[in-house]
Amino acid sequence: MASILQCMDCGRQYPTNTVIYNCETCSGLLDVKHDLDHWTRRADELRATFDQRLGSLDAPYNSGVWRYKELVYPDVDPSRIVSRPEGSTNLYHTPRLASWAGVETLYLKHEGENPTGSFKDRGMTGGLTQARVLGMNNVACASTGNTSASLAAYAAWAGICGIVLFQNKDVALGKLAQAVAYGATCIRIDADFDRNLELVRQISETLGIYVLNSVNPFRLEGQKTIMIEALQQLRWQTPDWIVCPGGNLGNSSAFGKALHELHEIGVIDRIPRLAVIQAEGANPLYQSYQRGFDRLEPVHAETVATAIKIGSPVNYPKAVRAIKWTNGVVEQVSDFEIMEAKALIDAQGIGCEPASGCTMAGVRKLVNSGVIKPHETVVGVLTGHILKDPDATIGYHRDELRGIHGTFRNLVHDAEPTAESIRAILGGEITAPQA
Ligand code: F0G
Repeated sequence: MASILQCMDCGRQYPTNTVIYNCETCSGLLDVKHDLDHWTRRADELRATFDQRLGSLDAPYNSGVWRYKELVYPDVDPSRIVSRPEGSTNLYHTPRLASWAGVETLYLKHEGENPTGSFKDRGMTGGLTQARVLGMNNVACASTGNTSASLAAYAAWAGICGIVLFQNKDVALGKLAQAVAYGATCIRIDADFDRNLELVRQISETLGIYVLNSVNPFRLEGQKTIMIEALQQLRWQTPDWIVCPGGNLGNSSAFGKALHELHEIGVIDRIPRLAVIQAEGANPLYQSYQRGFDRLEPVHAETVATAIKIGSPVNYPKAVRAIKWTNGVVEQVSDFEIMEAKALIDAQGIGCEPASGCTMAGVRKLVNSGVIKPHETVVGVLTGHILKDPDATIGYHRDELRGIHGTFRNLVHDAEPTAESIRAILGGEITAPQA
């Protein structure tokens, strides 16, 4: 059976060759539904298929998204696939960070290792592929930065026109530079992310533009593979927790769907719990969670983690569903906690952008409050590359970042061009690191 689009609220179905983002009957969000029954009781075969493709040199299976094509977009013609390729990111075992966070076993899945430096590439390969299937010549998004960088690159790669809408301030330098350099039409608007997303939706209707924000369900199919790949890297052993930052809530929605589907098929025998971590200044999901998920109350967003400066997340209903499916939790962390966690991840030689710091800060907080138990195994997702936001990183280490006085600052020393001056800084001697 071919994949279909299905409203998550009323169940109305649409063929996948329809340009549509919300249900025409009830405005609900749409899911891409695959014929999972086909794989039920054949989980061993599916795992073996995925394992055989590891290390493939050939498109599309050299991609860490299309390796799992059966669960992403089974019936798509491979010649339509737009891939860099993406995915195949590292899963780091990090004992020192685990001990700081208070757990025995912590793995970090580094999505900053994708072609444009964020997890968005996993979604964008799905979105641009669908744009090709639909014959769309223009794609657009509103963005806090990473989506625009990814869209710009993938549109250029596909030979399609890319359009990105930024808010007028707080877009990290690395992301802006990427979108400009990859050749997208970049429009800066005196409005926040949430308003820009409304504007993209409006212009898309009249100008024949395909929207590639995470309201597009084909994006989320690609992002599901962060979970599938992490589980494969763990040799299909299920961890106790998955922890990720939450902004527009595309990732958390995708993770919930992936885990639910893998469990339905029998690829995993239990579902890990999902913890979504928001910044205190951009916490509408957290607030709703505190009230028993009664409704979404948009907030005026402000945080050092500009990637997740979002007050009215479009995927709220799917994220709530994901948390219910996984018996998950929502936590919030302060800008100080975010930057401290980021500094520690950076100092391990791994590195990430501020929003990714939420993950580690959230693990520590949930361990301290007894929600995550020290013996439980945690997989945290790092969403973006360290070079995305150099201003935040340098600002932290110079003690010039929004009143945050970091405890892990690494100062740059100024020296005279003499050996004495350098020696004075080094304290006269340097010891070789112990093997
Ligand atoms: N981390 C990073 C680095 C991000 O860029 C984003 C979202 C998130 C986390 C949050 O993920 O929206 O799926 O909950 N960035 C979007 C953008 C909004 O426009 O680049 P989410």
